[in-house]
Amino acid sequence: YADRLTASKIVAKRIAAIITAKAAKSENTVLGLATGVTPIAVYQELVRLHREEGLSFKNVITFNLDEYYPMQPTAIQSYKAFMLDHLFSHVDIDMANVHVPDGRLDVEEIAEYCLAYEQKISALGGLDLQILGIGRTGHIGFNEPGSAPNSGTRLVSLDDLTRNDAAHDFGGKSNVPAKAITMGIGTIFKAREIILMAWGIKKAPILKKAVEGEISADVPATYLQLSDQVEFIVDQAAASELT
Ligand code: F6R
Repeated sequence: YADRLTASKIVAKRIAAIITAKAAKSENTVLGLATGVTPIAVYQELVRLHREEGLSFKNVITFNLDEYYPMQPTAIQSYKAFMLDHLFSHVDIDMANVHVPDGRLDVEEIAEYCLAYEQKISALGGLDLQILGIGRTGHIGFNEPGSAPNSGTRLVSLDDLTRNDAAHDFGGKSNVPAKAITMGIGTIFKAREIILMAWGIKKAPILKKAVEGEISADVPATYLQLSDQVEFIVDQAAASELT
C-alpha cells in the first residue's frame, strides 16, 4: 500500500469483517493483538468503526502477544496501559475478555502462568487472527534471535537493539526491562490467520530479510515463510528493498 494509513484501514476492515461474521453466528472472535507504533492506526480505525459504524466488541476475546517483565500494569510503559489507551477504553469490550501477559508475577510463577495462557487460547478454539509488527532484530512478539519455531509462551531476554529502540519510552535504555513474557513462535503459528504489518523506511532492511532471507533462528520472522496462513501488509517505504 502507498502509506501506513491506507494499509491500516484495510487491516481494521479485515478484523471488523471477522468480528461481524462470527457475531452473526453468535460466535466469539479470538484476536491476538500487538502493541508498539505499528498497529496504532489500526486501533484508531477500529475505534472509529465502533463509534460511527456500530462495530461491537461484545463478542471479542483478546490475547496480547507480550508484556515487559517486570512491569506493573498501571505503569505508563506497560503494554496493558497501551492497549487501554489505544483500544480497550474506547470500545465496548468486556474487560474480563482481555488478556495481556502479567508482568507482576514472581519468577517461580511464570512457567505455570505461561502454560495457562496457552491453554486459555486453545480452550477458546484458538486465535482467529494474530496481528504482528516486526522488530529490527527480526523479532515477532518478543521472540528474539535464537527463538525456536515451536516455542511457546515464556519469559525471554530482550535483545540489546530492542532495548535501544524502547529507550525513548523509558527515559533511557538502562530503565528498559531486560526481560519480557511473550507468546512463542509456536503459539503465533497456531492462529488461523496471521497478518504482519511494517511501515516506513526503518523497517525496510529487516523486512527484506524476513521475506527474502534464508529461514533461520537468527531472524525469527523468517519462520513465517513456512506458513500458508500469513500475509504481510506493508507500505511502499518498508517494501522498498524487496527485489
Ligand atoms: C509488540 C511486539 C513487537 C513489536 C515490534 C515492532 O507487542 O510484539 O514485536 O511489534 O517490536 O514495534 P514497533 O511497532 O513499535 O515498531
